[in-house]
Order: sequence, then C-alpha cells, then structure tokens
Amino acid sequence: MDPVRVGLLGLGTVGGGALNVLVRNAAEIARRAGRGIVVAHAAAREYDADGLEGLDQVEVCDDAFAVVDNPKVDIVVELIGGYSPARELVLRAIDNGKHVVTANKALIALHGNEIFAAAQAKGVTVAFEAAVAGGIPIIKALREGLAANHIDWIAGIINGTGNFILTEMKDKGRDFVEVLAEAQALGYAEADPTFDVEGIDAAHKLTILASLAFGIPLQFDKCYTEGISRIEPQDVAYAEQFGYRIKHLGVTRRTDKGIELRVHPTLIPHSRLIANVNGVMNAVLVQGDAVGPTLYYGAGAGSLPTASAVVADIIDVTRTLTTDPENRVPHLAFQPGELSDLSVVSVDEVKTAYYLRMTAVDRPGVVAAVAGILADADISIEAIQQKQPPEGETEVPLVMLTHRVRERQMNAAIEKIESLDAVAGAVTRIRVEQLK
Ligand code: HSE
Repeated sequence: MDPVRVGLLGLGTVGGGALNVLVRNAAEIARRAGRGIVVAHAAAREYDADGLEGLDQVEVCDDAFAVVDNPKVDIVVELIGGYSPARELVLRAIDNGKHVVTANKALIALHGNEIFAAAQAKGVTVAFEAAVAGGIPIIKALREGLAANHIDWIAGIINGTGNFILTEMKDKGRDFVEVLAEAQALGYAEADPTFDVEGIDAAHKLTILASLAFGIPLQFDKCYTEGISRIEPQDVAYAEQFGYRIKHLGVTRRTDKGIELRVHPTLIPHSRLIANVNGVMNAVLVQGDAVGPTLYYGAGAGSLPTASAVVADIIDVTRTLTTDPENRVPHLAFQPGELSDLSVVSVDEVKTAYYLRMTAVDRPGVVAAVAGILADADISIEAIQQKQPPEGETEVPLVMLTHRVRERQMNAAIEKIESLDAVAGAVTRIRVEQLK
C-alpha cells in the first residue's frame, strides 16, 4: 500500500519534533499503522534545518495554503498555533476533504465547535491529542479508556510553564521573571507568555477537557481564569506551613447547578500525588463513578513529548482512513447530536475553602474584627496564624484557612475586611481544594 502523505504546517519546536519522530521511528510506526507515513510537504517561513531529520525528502515551501490545497497531501498537520490563519487553514483542509491533526489548543477551545461541525459534514477527522497536556494521552483516556464512566470532576496541572515557575519559586526562591525567561528559552512557553502565567493556556485546555468529560459544547468564554502572577513567595511558604502546596489548577466539576469551569492558583494538601508534580510536568486527575480516581502524569510541553501526541494522532487517523466516518470515535467523545446543554455556572456560585493573607496593624481587637466579619458571613475559620513582621515593619501578616463557602459570600466578606482601618491594602485570596 502507498504510504500516507503528511503535509506539515510549521517546522518549529513541535513541527521539527514531529518530523524527527516520524523519520526516526518510521519502521515501527508503519508496523503500527499498517502502512508507511511520510512527510511529503511542509510549509514554514523560517526554520532551523539543523537537527531536522529527513528534511531532504520533504518539499518545503513558505505557503501553508499551498500545502493544504496540494492534492498529494492526505493529512494536514497544523503546528503553527494561534487563531489565524490556523482556523482558515484547518477549515480549508477540511473543505478539501483532508484529515487534520493539530496541537492548537487555542484554536480548538475557541473554534472547535465550528471546526468539528465542518469535519463531521465532510466525513473527515480532526485529531487534537497534543492540544492538552503535551505528551500525556489524556484525550484518548477520556474519549475511549474512561468511556464507561460518569465523570464527576477533573483537576489538572495543565500548563508546564506555570508549574515550572511555581516549582522554582518554592524550591529555590527564584524570581518569577527569571524563571519565565528560562521556560521561554527551553521552548515551553507560549509565543505570548501571558497566556501561560495568566492562565489562558490552561483555560483553553480545561475547556477541551470539560467538553470531553461532560459532553458539552466548547465554551471557552465561560471559563473563569486567574493566573499565578500575583502569587508571592510568602504565600508559597505559608501554604507549606499549613501543610499545603500552591499549584495552578484547572478544575471542572459536575454539580447540581451545572458545570464548574475554572483555572486558578490552588492550595492542595502536600500529601496528594498531584501536589508533588513539579517542574514542567503536567498531571490530570479524573474522578469517574466506576473507576474512581485516575491520575495521568507526564511532560506537558516540549518538542518530543508534544510530537509524541501529534504522531500518535497521525497513526490513529491513518488507521481510520478506510473506516466509515459514522463509526469513528466522536470528536468530543459524545455523538455530535448528543451534546448536552448543561450550563457552565458562574464562579460566584462555586464553593471552595480559602487561604487568606492580609497585612494588619498589630493591636488588640484586630483579629476579632476580622473573625467577626467572617462569622457574620457564616464563614468558619479552620486555622489562623499571625506571622512575624518583615524586617523594620510594624504591620504583621495575618494568614488563615477557612472552611468551604460560596465565592460570592467570600467576596463580600473580603470587601468588608479590606475596609477595616487596621488592614492595609488588598487581601490575598487563594482557593483550597482537598481533591479527595
Ligand atoms: N505553553 C504550554 C505549557 C505549552 O507551558 O504548558 C504546552 O501546551
């Protein structure tokens, strides 16, 4: 049988990795796929040929649309990233009757509903394993391995750059900006690194996971997103003293009121396995009713780990080339006509426990005033500590853990605490999850 011909859009970190894996493991991949897979065409404006294997067998041009329109290309692999022209390229590939593999989480999270509808109409597949958690096959796990389950919730460390920064801050007390620059140099960070540190990248990925878990359309605009840029080294240290670790989590949960969809820094008991996922590694914890908790761990970014997922998708698509489109695994795990209209709840309705830190004047009655506000709001304090003031200062950090409360109640209480004369500046608030 003739080999399957891939058209690669992008020869950067992930594109170069995908080419290398396809060339290096060609024989084994052919044994798995049932036929050879070759990169016949590629489009890249700028690329570094050093370290790219088998490039002499690839026709490289700088026009991605020419690759998408090339009748000799069977599978288009979009590794350019961003919203545009990625969306136009993918839609044109579908219109041309080609299957698509993409690592583009932003594209799927924002335009996935449109793209999957177009693919369904044309009878082609759009595969996107590399869009979430790099090399971890979490999409396959949710769509296939856990298909028997009613999924209750998912909590994941799904941005490697953010996890790398938090880990370096905790272990080495390193500066935020310096660690971010290192993550960029290592090829982990997004082109716009605010996507990593402000949680947008994690929100893209969580949006995809929620749709796969609960069978709802992709709704990125409903995802509550809070980054790690306001986490201070003292919060990392105080959390440790309470027995917790701060991780940047994506959490999606099925509740009576609808689906929670939120990305934010979170205190997790340090005894949990997921609290010990460090550096650029990712982990996704899935709670299913039949299987119980399952944890998926691995490299969430980087050239070869992401290429691993891209190439697995290319193999999957190759295996299904001759199958009836109606009998393929649905894009969002549930049959397209069976998606549910469960609503995404506002973060105001979400109930979590909280870590609070405030700077207070050290005089009698201040703790009582703060505790009184929390009591009036029906918020129960689990632990409270007054810390030593920083060198030369008289105001003291006051840190506490609360029991679970609805976000709206906590926001109202924080507003009242901030209005106390004895409390200086804003209250730092970090949500706490037990992940039991
Ligand atoms: N910037 C992303 C991360 C790359 O750091 O996780 C993988 O999606």
